[in-house]
Amino acid sequence: MPQTVLDRMVKFTILGKSPVNAYLLLNQRIWKHLPYSLVNAPPIRSYGAFLQTLVRLQVARTQNFGTLFLRNRPQLELMRRLSHQKAAGSTLKIAVLACSKGAEVYSILRTIRADRPDLKVVMNAVDISKEVLEFAERGVYSLDTPELTGQPVFGNMTEDEMQDLFDWEGDKVRVKSWIRKGITWHLGDAEDPEIVNVLGYQDMVVANNFLCHMYPPKAENCLRNIARLVKPGGNLFVSGIDLDVRTKVAKDLGWIALSDLLEEIHEGDHFLRDDWPWQYWGLEPLNKTRHDWKIRYASVFQIGAEG
Ligand SMILES: C[S@@+](CC[C@H](N)C(=O)[O-])C[C@H]1O[C@@H](n2cnc3c(N)ncnc32)[C@H](O)[C@@H]1O
Repeated sequence: MPQTVLDRMVKFTILGKSPVNAYLLLNQRIWKHLPYSLVNAPPIRSYGAFLQTLVRLQVARTQNFGTLFLRNRPQLELMRRLSHQKAAGSTLKIAVLACSKGAEVYSILRTIRADRPDLKVVMNAVDISKEVLEFAERGVYSLDTPELTGQPVFGNMTEDEMQDLFDWEGDKVRVKSWIRKGITWHLGDAEDPEIVNVLGYQDMVVANNFLCHMYPPKAENCLRNIARLVKPGGNLFVSGIDLDVRTKVAKDLGWIALSDLLEEIHEGDHFLRDDWPWQYWGLEPLNKTRHDWKIRYASVFQIGAEG
């Protein structure tokens, strides 16, 4: 169906009520009872894609601070594996863009430093919000009243992992000092063309779960800007983004999609996966019948490598 017709359908109301909204709510009620294996069956997957198109036309995109420690474990595992390409005692430069409350930054540092204590890991953490950046830098989290968002940041952690990452301070926890060292916190905009002059080139650039909150043309420009930060031969981690946008930029710029843990990383963020097709950021099920699946569902790339 042409986009303009869908657009008109979504905006149409009867006595102030949207029939499309009612249709979506009814579908969502039924969908909740479908097992995941059925959701990925071809006709249902296509129907889900249609429903998400309606959701995307209906819901305005807005940024939020939602984040979690150890959010996507296979992604962290791939960072650990890639860190082994570095010589003993060398420096590994990482930039985490849109770091929010810092959970992602600390999760990465804990993963790499525990495995490669010989490396000097230099971390640049960037966010556009001063409030959230100052919070992230403190590295102190309430155990029972999540700050700045309604969602707890520990939802993905075991008791042992909590002990490994934090020191207890009453009803709060503080990230351990061996994890917190070597971080520079930058108030900055990932869309700013000057960002490469501020941060310099990086071995790894992480840009997760904020490009999905931008409309596609803006997300595309931002992604092209972010890619300039990656050293030739370095890696870009980018998930939580419109898949058409990521695929287009990856193809245009000749990025090499890494196949290691591709499927595990795609499935690794349950929140994105479970929100499909009901939220605009929901992640479609991996569909291996697509001719372009190896690039469409890759979220880790090597950029600017010779040959
Ligand atoms: C949903 S959180 C993502 C947190 C984290 N990356 C993760 O995956 O868990 C989105 C964050 O992006 C930040 N943000 C939004 N637009 C940005 C931009 N243009 N440059 C830098 N940060 C941005 C917001 O302030 C917010 O903290």
